[in-house]
Amino acid sequence: MEDRRVGREENVRVYVRVRPLNKNESQGFVKGTIEIDKENDSIRLNNNEYREYEKYFRFHGVFSEESSQMQVYQLVAAPIVDTVLNGFNGTILAYGQTGSGKTYTMVGDHSSEELQGIIPNSFTQIFGKISTSAAYRSFVVTVTFLEIYNEEIKDLLAPNSDKKLVIHEHKKYGSFVKDLSGFTVNSVQEMMKLFTKGNKNRTTKSNAINTRSSRSHAIFTIMVESKNRNTNETTIGKLNFVDLAGSERLSRTKATGDMLKEASHINLSLSVLGNVISTLVDEKASHVPYRNSKLTRLLQDSLGGNSKTAMIATLSIAEIDYDESYCTLRYATKVRYIKNYVSANKKEDGLIASFEKQIQELRKKIQTIDDEQKIKRQKQYDLKMKINEKKKIEDEIINTENTKQELVTKIEKLQQKIIVGGINLLDKVEEQKYLIKQSSSELQTIYEKNKNLEEVLTNKGKEKIELERIYTSFRKKMKI
Ligand SMILES: Nc1ncnc2c1ncn2[C@@H]1O[C@H](COP(=O)(O)OP(=O)(O)O)[C@@H](O)[C@H]1O
Ligand SMILES: [Mg+2]
Repeated sequence: MEDRRVGREENVRVYVRVRPLNKNESQGFVKGTIEIDKENDSIRLNNNEYREYEKYFRFHGVFSEESSQMQVYQLVAAPIVDTVLNGFNGTILAYGQTGSGKTYTMVGDHSSEELQGIIPNSFTQIFGKISTSAAYRSFVVTVTFLEIYNEEIKDLLAPNSDKKLVIHEHKKYGSFVKDLSGFTVNSVQEMMKLFTKGNKNRTTKSNAINTRSSRSHAIFTIMVESKNRNTNETTIGKLNFVDLAGSERLSRTKATGDMLKEASHINLSLSVLGNVISTLVDEKASHVPYRNSKLTRLLQDSLGGNSKTAMIATLSIAEIDYDESYCTLRYATKVRYIKNYVSANKKEDGLIASFEKQIQELRKKIQTIDDEQKIKRQKQYDLKMKINEKKKIEDEIINTENTKQELVTKIEKLQQKIIVGGINLLDKVEEQKYLIKQSSSELQTIYEKNKNLEEVLTNKGKEKIELERIYTSFRKKMKI
C-alpha cells in the first residue's frame, strides 16, 4: 500500500463524556469518583477514600452529565462532518465500558430531535449542507453498516445478513469489505430508515453488567462524493461512526464457554486496537499491527492515516466503575497523541461520473428504442390503413354480393315469371289468344293444303284437255 503520510498533520481529537447516574445508582447513594473541570477541559479522577491516588487528565473537551446531545455534536462531530463534503475522511469513535453511554452518544434516542445522538445529527448536517451548496456541485451519498462480532463481519443492511464477509486490500484506497451492501440515499429520512434497519440487526446479549449490552463493534459509514461541474473535479469523503464493544475487562462480565470465546474475540479487536494506538504514539516503533484484527484493518485510515478523527471516551461516575474509568482515561490520553495526515481525496472517475456515463448510455438506448418505435408505429399505422382498406373491400364484397344476390333473386323472379309460367297460371284471355293463334295456324295449314289440291286439280284439268285434244285429233284421223 502507498505511504499515506501525505497531507496536513493533525492529532486525533479526544473528548470525554460522563453519563449521569441511573435510577438504581442514584437511589443507592453511589459515590462519585470524577470531577470535571470544563474550563481546562480536564478530568480529575479520585477514589474518595484514598485521595492520594487522585489522577488528572486533559483532553480536547469534556462533557458533564448535563451536557446535551447537541453540545456534544457541535464540538466533536460537526467540524469533521463539515469537511467530508469537501473530500476529507472522518472518523468518530465511541470508547468505554458497557453502560457508560457509547450508544447513547452515537445513536441516542432518534425518535426525539433533542435526544438523538451524533449519527442522526450528522444526517441533518450533511443534507443541510448539500441543499445550501452551489448548483454546479453534484453529490452522491452512499451508506454502509456493518458489525464485527466474534471477529466476523456481518452486513447489517443485507437482506441475508448472516453472510460472513471478508476484508480485501485496494492498492490505492486501502482495506474494504468485499460485497458489503452500499445504498445511495438522497434524504435524511432514507438514511434514517437504513440506520434504523441496521440497528435492529445488531447483536445484543445480556451479561452481568448490562441487560442489553452491545458486545459487538458497529461501523456506520457515510460516503459523500462531490463533483464540481465547473472544474470537473471529483472528491470523495468517507465518514466512519464507530460504536465499539464494551472495553471492560473480561473478569467483570463473568463470561464462560461461548460467551468467553466471544469476549476474548472482542478483546482481540480491542487489544489490537490498543496495540495499534501504542505503536502509533511510540516514536521508536516502526510496524503498526493493523492487520492483526478486523477492526484495526478497517480503521487503518482513521488512526495514523488520512482521516480527521475524534474519539469520545464515555465514563460512568460510579465508584464501582473507578478501575474501568481509570483504564478508559489512560487509553484516551494515549489516543490524543496519534497523528493523522489529512488531505482531500480526489478522484478521476467517481460514482457521479459512472452514473452520468450510465445515464448517457441509457439515454442513447432510449433514443434507439424511440427510433425503432417510430418505425413500428408507422408500420402499425400502415397496417391499420390496410386493415381499414381490407375491411372496406370486405364490405364492398359483401355489398356487391348482396347486390348480386338481389339481381339473382330478381332473375329468379323473372325466370319464374317466364319459364315456370304453366298453363294453369295463364289467364283466360291469354289462353284464348293462344288457342286462336293456334287454330289460325291450323286454318293456314288447311288453306295451304286446299291450295295444293286446287293446283293438282288444275293440273289434272290441263292434262284432261290435252288428252281430249289428242283424242279428237285421233278420231279425226281415224274418221271415227
Ligand atoms: N449522557 C447520558 N444522558 C442520559 N442517559 C444516558 C447518558 N449516557 C448513557 N445514558 C443511559 O445509560 C444507559 C447505558 O448507556 P448506553 O449508551 O447503552 O451504554 P453503552 O452503549 O456504552 O453500553 C442507557 O440507558 C442510556 O440511555
Ligand atoms: Mg452500546
